Amino acid sequence: MSDPTEISEEVVSAAVTAALTAISTAADSAALRVVRTEHAGDASPLARLNALMRTVPNDRKAAAGKLVGQARGRVSQALAAREAEIGEAEARAQLAAETVDVTAAASAWRPGARHPLSLLQERVADVFVGMGWEVAEGPELESEWFNFDALNFDEDHPARAMQDTFFVDPPEAHLVLRTHTSPVQMRALLSRELPVYVVSPGRVFRTDELDATHTPVFHQIEGIAVDKGLTMAHLRGTLDHFVKAMFGPEAKVRLRPNYFPFTEPSAELDLWHPTFKEGARWIEWGGCGMVNANVLRSAGIDPEVYSGFAFGVGVERALMFRNDVKDMHDMVEGDVRFSQQYGMTV
Ligand code: DAH
Repeated sequence: MSDPTEISEEVVSAAVTAALTAISTAADSAALRVVRTEHAGDASPLARLNALMRTVPNDRKAAAGKLVGQARGRVSQALAAREAEIGEAEARAQLAAETVDVTAAASAWRPGARHPLSLLQERVADVFVGMGWEVAEGPELESEWFNFDALNFDEDHPARAMQDTFFVDPPEAHLVLRTHTSPVQMRALLSRELPVYVVSPGRVFRTDELDATHTPVFHQIEGIAVDKGLTMAHLRGTLDHFVKAMFGPEAKVRLRPNYFPFTEPSAELDLWHPTFKEGARWIEWGGCGMVNANVLRSAGIDPEVYSGFAFGVGVERALMFRNDVKDMHDMVEGDVRFSQQYGMTV
């Protein structure tokens, strides 16, 4: 609208019509705010007409004032009414958008499955708890002292290189990702009164590439018993019960001489696996032995009074030969379809 120069009925009613049309077509509160500025704001045609009141001769002031006043009143009423209408509509739309349909059918969640490695570790723990042992855990980020020194690995003992260690920065912190669960042996001895009977399943780390038979992150189960008068016979008897509970009554163990710095004598632990898919046979499963006197001394235990045995076995290996899993990738990928095959029966 061009700048009005005088107040006339035509000009006023044109301004009102334009305002009412704009108001009725404003679709939402943002649009209505724009309309309000354009048609009722300080620079709107009606405001400018109002400003012309100064120029109206006195005898026509009352009539002109009434004309413009009524026009502004109509526009502001229309604005208020439309504002209420839009406000209500917007509130209704928001409520509708936020409605929860309690009658809607639930979407079908496929049940997950616990990982067979977890189930297997729990089962081993159960077997030992059944013999009165305790279950303990140790940290995966371990001090070099617990992982090596306390276990009688010398500073430059070649045995340190036997295990491909992830050393953790900074070097002066002397931290490693534990290469075996054996550090829990020392932790168990330092945190308990004797006698100690502790089994400890957990995650361990070595710098291997993932392939069908290796993974840099895997699991072991450690056992340590320290008491008066423990011998190799107790170790054998314990392992025998363990493998029968895990692999059936025909399973048995065989010990072959070996070397570990933390046991003396040390042995390789073989398992006679009666239900192995490719026929019953001996399978290398882990290590064991009588706790080295130096380890007992590091824990403040007198090796003249106490003796102990220890063992460590691999959980992935057990799953491979017990459940005929051929490829390590299946174990680490976390596909629920793999886990589902085991249910709760592993
Ligand atoms: N920690 C050894 C390894 O990872 C396994 C082991 C051997 C554990 C002998 C023991 C043991 O407790 O007595 O290769």
